[in-house]
Amino acid sequence: MVSDSTTDIDSIRFREVLGSYPTGVTVITAVGEDGRPAGMAVGSFTSVSLDPPLVAFLPDRSSSSFPRIRTASSFCVNVLAADQEAVCRAFATRGGDKFAGVGWQPAGSGAPRLDGVAAWIDCDFESVQEAGDHYIVLGRVRELDSTDERPPLVFFQGGYGRFSSTA
Ligand SMILES: Cc1cc2nc3c(=O)[nH]c(=O)nc-3n(C[C@H](O)[C@H](O)[C@H](O)COP(=O)(O)O)c2cc1C
Repeated sequence: MVSDSTTDIDSIRFREVLGSYPTGVTVITAVGEDGRPAGMAVGSFTSVSLDPPLVAFLPDRSSSSFPRIRTASSFCVNVLAADQEAVCRAFATRGGDKFAGVGWQPAGSGAPRLDGVAAWIDCDFESVQEAGDHYIVLGRVRELDSTDERPPLVFFQGGYGRFSSTA
């Protein structure tokens, strides 16, 4: 039987098992309609489509930053480098000035492109759909770039690390 809002899945077990899937770490940024930059750390980033060029991320409905990000027409996905764990922690913490001590330049859309990232993807909002206690946000890519000089930060089972090739 398919259940609706109730579930038999234990939430601790759910997090534990899903935490076995490693992710990169991004910071999604935008300049809100109040003119101030907003941002949040997000692991649920993925590419979706090449033609048209679409990407996605899944913000929690309880996030206080996403409603501010959503007031913009564009956002920038900043793929954090292995040495940016402190940046991740700052953007994963509710409240305060998350941008204190973090350098950034406006991307083409005006959304903040953080200094020292491994890659950045500047996007226009394409759609926002409800999905349980999260949203699914689709972005249409305007411009993007990456560097080979900075390997990415990796998040796995609640801890941070870096990528090491088996080759
Ligand atoms: C590695 C990592 C990945 C995260 N991924 C997500 C995510 O995909 N979606 C989300 O809503 N929150 C995610 N978070 C949590 C948010 O960063 C955090 O709850 C949020 O920024 C809290 O502040 P806010 O109220 O300003 O949004 C992640 C946190 C960390 C440390």
